[in-house]
Amino acid sequence: MYELIARPLFWLPAETSHGIALGTLERLHRLGLSGPLAAGVRTLPQPLRLMGLEFPHRIGLAAGLDKNGDHVDALAALGFAFLEIGTLTPRPQPGNPRPRLFRDFATRSIVNRMGFNNKGIDHAVARLRQHRGNIIVGVNIGKNRDTPAASAEADYLECLRQCRDVADYVTVNISSPNTPGLRELQFGENLDRLLEGLKQAQSAQQAESGNYLPLAVKLAPDLTAAEIRLICARLLAWRMDCIIAGNTTISRPDSLPGHIAGESGGLSGAPLTTLARHTVRAIKEEVGNAIPIIGVGGIMSGHDGRAMLAAGADLLQIYSGFIFRGPGLIRELTEAVVDA
Ligand SMILES: Cc1cc2nc3c(=O)[nH]c(=O)nc-3n(C[C@H](O)[C@H](O)[C@H](O)COP(=O)(O)O)c2cc1C
Repeated sequence: MYELIARPLFWLPAETSHGIALGTLERLHRLGLSGPLAAGVRTLPQPLRLMGLEFPHRIGLAAGLDKNGDHVDALAALGFAFLEIGTLTPRPQPGNPRPRLFRDFATRSIVNRMGFNNKGIDHAVARLRQHRGNIIVGVNIGKNRDTPAASAEADYLECLRQCRDVADYVTVNISSPNTPGLRELQFGENLDRLLEGLKQAQSAQQAESGNYLPLAVKLAPDLTAAEIRLICARLLAWRMDCIIAGNTTISRPDSLPGHIAGESGGLSGAPLTTLARHTVRAIKEEVGNAIPIIGVGGIMSGHDGRAMLAAGADLLQIYSGFIFRGPGLIRELTEAVVDA
């Protein structure tokens, strides 16, 4: 069914078709017609408690599809257990010039160099204030492109401050490959300075409001084993609440066709499955049960979901699999991992 509806869209430029698909979903939802799309989604016998939140099942939407929080209710109606909106930056920005999104159907892969196109954190906060559902919503935050690396922390702190009342958790995105210098925040003093500032802000907010807002850190799948070891030690030391592993990869497997392999940006979808799973396994070895892990990257089937949980993930997020397979993948995953 999804294939039938979505196929014609796949002939359009990628970004145009994604926009039409989201617009159609929004209209279906407003007409009260999106309910059947969530049919068959299985919830867990008992909600899963992680980061102080209760997840009805393990499958969420990864950041980047609903950058601005404009479609929260419509996406929630598809049966996701949680949604992550963003990446949001303090000021709106247009992102990179188009074309900046490329797909290959045969290999079920996507390359993007969107560059944090977004309407700014205040727009997203206003949208989240309007949304009516009770789905768990994470807000993924980053820095503006023209903010110098030395001032990056101020951008994250500003986003955290603005979304404190509307987010269920906040994801600190230091792993997108399309903002120059962003991935440098994963290392050494840069990381320590950022985490210290965020934890201080988190404590101050808790003292003020009584609410503890969990902080997740989203890492790249391109880290070496040694880098993972160092980063995890810092995440443990700063008592971060969750690790999301991971973002798109800058690597290009040999099997990837030239028309997409040659595009700069981050690769996602099926070619990322193994790399993302290995990254989760390596992180799990470092953090054990001390920090929950959201596994994301190349989850295209129920089998991939089970394997990601076996590697150490507690929750799963999907993006590319959702683009290629539609809401049916949510149902398939909830079934496949209901007893995991
Ligand atoms: C078009 C596109 C835009 C994305 N934008 C973001 C983003 O703004 N912030 C972020 O943290 N991840 C972003 N991602 C990465 C996804 O959240 C996810 O980590 C990655 O695609 C791997 O998962 P997948 O293989 O299921 O797509 C984006 C991915 C795609 C394909």
